[in-house]
Amino acid sequence: MNLPMAGAAGAPLLLESIPELQREVRALADERGAVILAHNYQLPEVQDIADYVGDSLGLSQRAAAADAETIVFCGVHFMAETASILCPDKRILIPDPDAGCSLADSITAQQLRDWKARFAPARPIVVMYVNTSAEVKAETDYCCTSANAVQVVERIRAEHGDDVEILFGPDMFLGRYVERTLGRPMHVWDGECHVHAGIRPGDIAAVRGSHPGAEFLIHPECGCSTSVMEYVAAGDVPAEGVHMLSTGGMLARARALGDRGSDGARATAIVATETGMLHPLRRTAPDVDFIAANEAASCRFMKMITLTKLRDSLRDGEHEVKVPAEIADRARLAIERMVQIG
Ligand code: 13P
Ligand code: SF4
Repeated sequence: MNLPMAGAAGAPLLLESIPELQREVRALADERGAVILAHNYQLPEVQDIADYVGDSLGLSQRAAAADAETIVFCGVHFMAETASILCPDKRILIPDPDAGCSLADSITAQQLRDWKARFAPARPIVVMYVNTSAEVKAETDYCCTSANAVQVVERIRAEHGDDVEILFGPDMFLGRYVERTLGRPMHVWDGECHVHAGIRPGDIAAVRGSHPGAEFLIHPECGCSTSVMEYVAAGDVPAEGVHMLSTGGMLARARALGDRGSDGARATAIVATETGMLHPLRRTAPDVDFIAANEAASCRFMKMITLTKLRDSLRDGEHEVKVPAEIADRARLAIERMVQIG
């Protein structure tokens, strides 16, 4: 898929209107008893007023544990659907219902049913990344995120034996990463996220040249992830400087890097993921220099959530995301397994 990478949708906010809108948002959230959850790729001004900012796994865990009646999800549509499945009695709002995901669009429920049918005699186990529609999750045995994909497949091997056939999707780069980490083949769907797939091996070669000695923090959805693992295997890149991490894992690594700088030298880390991630990384470890592997890696869907739309969503109670019970009831177990494996 070849979609454009773009910045924030809609008219840009005047800088001076940001604090005022943030005050309005916080006041409305308190008045409505709403909790605001935001993904690490959200605009900085949205992250800064959220009750919780995190990766897909952390957001699902927070949604499941939330005691507020309303959850406003600042992220993309499948994340709000996941919250609706986990919390069927809560009101889940998304500030822009058109905030989709190219990776989630790369497999439909019918395609998954057809794929399963081809392997039916072998009784395969289906593992789907959480970046999928609720209908796809309803056809899934285990969901996973980038933070726990390896552990989910390990759990399946422990429970179903080493020979079990695994259908893994929809992200092919994450699938290959899991296969390589566990040294075990799976059947991997050939979907991709247009933003992460656009971070190519050539980007890594270029930033490595200009920042020798820097660490690499690489999201396993990236188009460069396979080649970086190959550089490591060939001894071209030292393994200890390369970390394949979810966005939450990157923040944990940033904390460790920030704590290390007692010799006065600033650490540098090259970050291969959506560029919104630079904001929470810099906030977490201000003494570390974070460099984007590809400055153009911006998810236009994530950036559709603006402070103005968040304010309107809280004020008007829009746009509710409610997964129908017949789908939610079939999708819940796969998500609960993901949350429980952690
Ligand atoms: P994580 O936050 O789980 O690493 O996911 C990244 C992503 O692309 C979400 O859409
Ligand atoms: Fe989907 Fe990619 Fe955007 Fe994440 S960065 S929401 S996977 S399109």
